[in-house]
Amino acid sequence: MKQNDLQFSAVIDAFTRQSVIYDYYEKGNQTLIWMRKQVRKHAMSFLNPGDKLLELNSGTGTDAVYFAQNGILVHSTDISDGMIEQIRKKVNDYKLSHKISFEQCSYTELNKIKNNKFDFIFSNFGGLNCLTDLSEATKFFPSLLNDGGKVCLVIMPPICPWELANIFRGKFKFAFRRLKTSATLAHIEGIHFNTHYFSSKNVMKALGDKFILVKLEGLAVFTPNPQMEKFQKKFPRLTQLLNKLDESLSGYFPFNKIGDHIILTALYSSK
Ligand SMILES: C[S@@+](CC[C@H](N)C(=O)[O-])C[C@H]1O[C@@H](n2cnc3c(N)ncnc32)[C@H](O)[C@@H]1O
Repeated sequence: MKQNDLQFSAVIDAFTRQSVIYDYYEKGNQTLIWMRKQVRKHAMSFLNPGDKLLELNSGTGTDAVYFAQNGILVHSTDISDGMIEQIRKKVNDYKLSHKISFEQCSYTELNKIKNNKFDFIFSNFGGLNCLTDLSEATKFFPSLLNDGGKVCLVIMPPICPWELANIFRGKFKFAFRRLKTSATLAHIEGIHFNTHYFSSKNVMKALGDKFILVKLEGLAVFTPNPQMEKFQKKFPRLTQLLNKLDESLSGYFPFNKIGDHIILTALYSSK
C-alpha cells in the first residue's frame, strides 16, 4: 500500500466511526455552533440564490442543508462511507433531493465529477488539513469553476493562540504541534492519521495565479478552541465576550491569519 492509500484508508475509517456521533457532539458544543455560524456568514456574503456550489469534505451534510435551504444548489462530496450515509439520510429527512446531490469522492479525484461547472467551491472545518500538499486538490479547481467563481476554504493554520498558550502549562509538544514541518498525528475514534497545517500564504500558493484573495478571517482567535469544553462550560459569559471580540477583530491583520481555523475566499479568473 502506498503512503497516500494508508492515509486515506485511516481517514475513511476514522470519520466513518465518527459520523454517527458527529452532529450530536456539535449540538452540545457552543463554540462549534458559533464557529459554523461565522463560516456561514462569511460564505453567504458571496452567494446568491440559484448558485451552484461544490462542497468538498462535506461531513454529515449540515452545511449542505443550510445552503440548500437558502436557495443554493449543492453537490456534496466526501471520502468517508459513514459521512456519505449521513448525507443520504439528511437529504431524505429534509426532502432536499431537488437541491442537494452527493457523491463519494476524494478531493484528490475531483476529475471524476463530470459535466459540471460551479460558482463556488466550499470546504469547511479543516477537511483539507488531511493533505500533505494542498495542490493535490486545488489543481482541479480551475476546471470546475465558472469564470468569476469563488473558492471558500476553512483551514487550520500553523498559529493558533490558544494552543500556543499551552506553553504556560508546560505542554510544549502540544503547544508547538502546528509549527512542525513534518506531519502531526491526529487521533479520532482510536485511529491515527496525518494532519498538516497551512497558512493563508500556503493556500494562495496552492491555488495559483488565477486566484486573487478577496476575504480572509481568523476563526477562534480570541475564543478558546472548541475542544476546550471545560472553559466554555465554566465561563459561558466570558466565552460570549471573546466571541464578540473575534467578530470585531478577526478580519484585521494580524488576527485574520491566525486562530483555530482561518476562512479564506479567493476569486477565480480564467484570464
Ligand atoms: C472535520 S470533518 C469536517 C466535515 C464538514 N465539512 C463539517 O463542516 O462538519 C473532515 C471531513 O473531511 C473528510 N475528508 C478527509 N479527507 C478527505 C478526502 N481526501 N476527500 C474528501 N473528504 C475527505 C472526512 O471524511 C470528514 O468528513
